[in-house]
Amino acid sequence: MNKKASFPAMPDLSALAAPSTGGMEDEAWISVIQKMESIYTDLLYYQVELEEKNAALETAQRFIDSVMSSMSDILIVCDVNGHIQQVNAAFTRAVGIEEAVLKGRLYTSLFTETSVDTAAAFLQSVRQAPVEDIEADLQHQDGSAVPMAINCSPRRDHNNRYSGMVLTGRPLGELRLAYDQLNAAHAELKTTQKQLIQSEKMASLGRLVAGVTHELNNPISIIYGNMYALRRYETRFSDYISRLGSITDPAEQAQLRQQLRVDRMLDDIGPLIDGSLEGAERVNDIVQNLLRFSIPQQQSVSEFNLNKITSTALQWVLRSSGVTPDVQLDIDPSLTVKNREGYVHQILVNLVQNAVDALEHIREPRLCLQATADDARITLTITDNGTGIAENDLVRLFDPFFTRKQVGKGTGLGLYISYGLATEQCNGDLRAENTADGGARFPLELPRERAP
Ligand SMILES: Nc1ncnc2c1ncn2[C@@H]1O[C@H](COP(=O)(O)OP(=O)(O)OP(=O)(O)O)[C@@H](O)[C@H]1O
Ligand SMILES: [Mg+2]
Repeated sequence: MNKKASFPAMPDLSALAAPSTGGMEDEAWISVIQKMESIYTDLLYYQVELEEKNAALETAQRFIDSVMSSMSDILIVCDVNGHIQQVNAAFTRAVGIEEAVLKGRLYTSLFTETSVDTAAAFLQSVRQAPVEDIEADLQHQDGSAVPMAINCSPRRDHNNRYSGMVLTGRPLGELRLAYDQLNAAHAELKTTQKQLIQSEKMASLGRLVAGVTHELNNPISIIYGNMYALRRYETRFSDYISRLGSITDPAEQAQLRQQLRVDRMLDDIGPLIDGSLEGAERVNDIVQNLLRFSIPQQQSVSEFNLNKITSTALQWVLRSSGVTPDVQLDIDPSLTVKNREGYVHQILVNLVQNAVDALEHIREPRLCLQATADDARITLTITDNGTGIAENDLVRLFDPFFTRKQVGKGTGLGLYISYGLATEQCNGDLRAENTADGGARFPLELPRERAP
């Protein structure tokens, strides 16, 4: 604290004046007294000014002290030779040494052996440009290293002459710890995600296998049963033929024929073979569909006309269908797409087939195929005014073997396969919605140009 200087009141100098000897001497005294009074007034003025400046200085000092001690970053002020002039509380805490002991020491002595060269370079490089975010380790008094990100700026005096440098730094320990924790959490998350995907894959594989087994079980049991019946018939036929050779009487022959129920067997054989063939076809359908899905032949990307491919898909389906809907084809005839043509065709056939199936019992069946396009994507929407989709079914529509069709009519793989083809093979998307008038709508989105 500066001590305030204060002046006593101006003594009454007139009392000191010698008894008047008249004239000149009096005047001289008066002039001296006036001079002294004026000097005294000046002194008083300077004292007030000094006190004010002193108070301002103290306020500034307190402000700087409070700022420095509340800083969480470390601060070291050095002279031109790198001797420490001042540090803040954060620094004394970081190195565990009192400020008084630190003053006058070379700043480099506070860095670890591995960082001392890095730190020493600051003294030169700071004269050219400030040093930013350099990692260096401070040496704590207990011997441990304290990792810091150091910045260093030149300090200039009032004549703008270089007068030292100021080092500031942020402890890296906590940042590093937080970073490591974040990294560990991220790695854990990735592992969990992988496990989830894996278990989801296993679950869907399980569902698929269960579905396949269930679907194959029916036709195979039918074939199996039919074959057993045919084997029994075969035994009875051989029996009949061998016994027939030894019988000549037509009445006896007829009796044997009746006894062995030959005519019933003959009537049965046709349906048994038909049923088995149907079952075999069904097995074949399922296997073919699965094969197409599980081992997709890689198709190359080519440019094709969207209107044309949609018309072909329509013709294919309508030719073999009993439904003749009113078809509206609203696709720009010049619209082309670069994608895997075969897959797009397969998707369209599936979607049109489904729409036509849904229109089977509709009085005025309508089918609309419409395409909209922007620079990057086209959306081809197939809309029908058929039965629509029950709200509960919407979420399961793309599941394997989900079907609402009668046994033998659908395998429930059409949409499952189409979705896989649309998303994985064609880089597009396929959705299912109901329309306001009760039908269904399937928007198929495709990139205009799929990467090869
Ligand atoms: N346009 C549509 N309108 C109403 N329901 C539909 C429509 N498209 C699909 N569905 C429903 O979704 C179910 C699943 O369709 P998906 O094509 O996957 O199998 P599917 O047609 O039953 O058999 P598959 O296509 O294997 O022969 C259908 O059974 C039907 O109930
Ligand atoms: Mg289908």
